[in-house]
Amino acid sequence: MNSLKYKVTLLLIVTGISFSFSCKRGAVGNSDVDMKVNALLSKMTIEEKIGQMTQLDPGSFDGKESIKAAVRDGRCGSLLNYLGPVEVNEIQKVAMEESRLGIPLIIGRDVIHGFRTVFPIPLGMASSWDPEIVREAFRISSIEASSQGIKWTFAPMIDICRDPRWGRIAEGCGEDPYLVSSFATAMVKGIQGDNPADPTSLAACVKHYAGYGYSEGGRDYNTTNIIETELRNVVLKPFKAAKDAGALTFMSAFNDLNGVPTTANEFTLRQVLRNEWKFDGFVVSDWGSVMELINHGYALDAKDAACKAINAGVDMEMATTAYSDNIKQLLKEGKITESRIDEAVRNILKVKYELGLFENPYVSPEAEKKLLDPSFLDHARKVARESVVMLKNDRSTLPLSMNITSVAVIGPLADAPRDQLGTWCFDGREENSVTPLKALRDILGDKRVNYVVGLKYSRDKNKSDFDKAVAAAKRSDAILFFAGEEWILSGEGQCRGEINLPGAQTELIDALSRTGKPLIVVVLAGRPLAIGKEVEASNAVLYAWHGGTMAGPAIADLIFGKESPSGKLPVTFVKGAGQIPFYYYRYNTGRPASAKSYTPIDSIPVKNQQTSLGYKSSYLDYGYSALFPFGFGLSYTKFNYSDLSLSSNTMNSNGTITVKATVTNTGNMDADEIVQFYIRDRVGSITRPIKELKGFRRIHLTKGEKSEVAFVLAPDDLAFFNGTITAAEPGEFDVWIGPSSAEGLHGEFRFE
Ligand code: NOJ
Repeated sequence: MNSLKYKVTLLLIVTGISFSFSCKRGAVGNSDVDMKVNALLSKMTIEEKIGQMTQLDPGSFDGKESIKAAVRDGRCGSLLNYLGPVEVNEIQKVAMEESRLGIPLIIGRDVIHGFRTVFPIPLGMASSWDPEIVREAFRISSIEASSQGIKWTFAPMIDICRDPRWGRIAEGCGEDPYLVSSFATAMVKGIQGDNPADPTSLAACVKHYAGYGYSEGGRDYNTTNIIETELRNVVLKPFKAAKDAGALTFMSAFNDLNGVPTTANEFTLRQVLRNEWKFDGFVVSDWGSVMELINHGYALDAKDAACKAINAGVDMEMATTAYSDNIKQLLKEGKITESRIDEAVRNILKVKYELGLFENPYVSPEAEKKLLDPSFLDHARKVARESVVMLKNDRSTLPLSMNITSVAVIGPLADAPRDQLGTWCFDGREENSVTPLKALRDILGDKRVNYVVGLKYSRDKNKSDFDKAVAAAKRSDAILFFAGEEWILSGEGQCRGEINLPGAQTELIDALSRTGKPLIVVVLAGRPLAIGKEVEASNAVLYAWHGGTMAGPAIADLIFGKESPSGKLPVTFVKGAGQIPFYYYRYNTGRPASAKSYTPIDSIPVKNQQTSLGYKSSYLDYGYSALFPFGFGLSYTKFNYSDLSLSSNTMNSNGTITVKATVTNTGNMDADEIVQFYIRDRVGSITRPIKELKGFRRIHLTKGEKSEVAFVLAPDDLAFFNGTITAAEPGEFDVWIGPSSAEGLHGEFRFE
């Protein structure tokens, strides 16, 4: 970082199309920042340096005065969860005016998918396949959060996850390195804006570095064992993208990675992040994860834990005090060096300068006005709309006519204002949520909406209201059943062994389907649930995730066809928990299954003596395919894919290749389509996945309109780490352009 503006060249979504954007890092030139940091560092006592490496939780103090005392004495350089313009200004004034060196605090908070205006959970936002609207959503979150004194958010969460049992799947952007990287870039740009020193910008904190989404068995905080090829080709990709987008901070994770907890992992923190990627922001631990090194059996005590985390490269400790209690002793014993401490403090101070905190530490009193602006709510509605994925629509059950005589609105998630906000929502208010019930009543009027909750909450097994629900269904023209999970069933620590619809929801759906009325199931949930039976029992299914403040109007917009559903799945839907892990970016095995080889369990003769059941890689009960594949999503219109062409059938190491197809809207409605581009490297020095997403484009086509969509591949897009080097290997490649990972027009070329 040596100039006022530095240019980041971003290889956009590996289409080979590269574009550059400029991003101002701080109000002063970077060499200027370095000089300021060094000048300040030279004046600091060891106690003040330790203070900068310490982030404290206000809840751990004995009242406000003791927080002020810690700040005044320079014992803490950061607070988390300290909120409100007046409060923040007051504590910042102590840091600026009463501490010896006047170093501002950096105040952090989890603003994961919105602040007061709540957007869909990140997995929902990822279903939009629209990084631009997500960038804007994070911009809005930052405008709101900064108005309350926050200058640093612990987002984006970009852990790739292929296990829907893991509650934190809700917080990430799905299973694919390319898709998650695209969102990682957009989110960082939204959070930090064009200039991190702008009063509305926050520092992003990329988390959880690394591998946390691979927690064994989908059980939170669990061990991860990830070989280096998988780590580099999949797990680390979004982190590198976030770093390249200018993310100022990283967070280490809770998990043990290949025998070394990530909070003390020199390979990820030192070798990859600092030496290879040249990251020059700072790394914070996760909450208490330094002390948890003891539980992991990797550190003997707090002193040992501090020593290992510091030496591995964790600059700031979150919430616990292993650093502040032990650094001096560790220095005395020569277990850590003063130069390592200086490096950590330098990293932290640099970010504080780049955020403009020294020049402008206070929040404007105008701040309150920046919450829930109507334009923010409009955007939340748009994002929620684009996040909905239509999984079924038999005989055009949807959209419903606005002239419909009446609808039955049933189900535990129809009017659950807190639940639709989803997990990790500290600052959203349920009184601001517009529920589906409210939105439907606003559109149709109370009289045309026959509402019976049926089950009071998702896990409810009490069937006493089933009759009422069925009666309401019978006197209506269509049934809208709002199924799902409450917010508390996903998120940190909220993992499930089974991923079915909880409680008696499936039975109620069955009872409703027997009425013969058109049954539309809308699912609001924090994970991809195994809903095969419910899909079968219904006529149409919309998967709406936890859609945030404006979920209700967004869903209603789609139900009445104001717009067509356009979301696509960012994660594979499995048939049941026993099929996990199952994701599209998988390896072929020596015995891939196909329709020909597969014998469903019910077709096996009772006394089967034969030995020709297939011996292929599949399950007798689940088969060999997903319930819904990655990238899948239906529309009210139809899109036809035709005319796939390649600019050449060979590509050399200095060249590129352009793959094109024509997409035509052949249906009856203007709509968006997400065009997806996949490749397969047929033979490699290590086995390669059967498909890899390498590009996507959301396009809008009016009725009858067609568009040619082109993707450019460069050799870098074919490169992978094979255990020794990262390179593209000569050989045959397949390409597909299509509407999902399971369909598409096929072509091939040779890389020489
Ligand atoms: C623990 C979570 O793992 C992390 O994501 C979060 O940012 C911190 N707590 C702070 O709340």
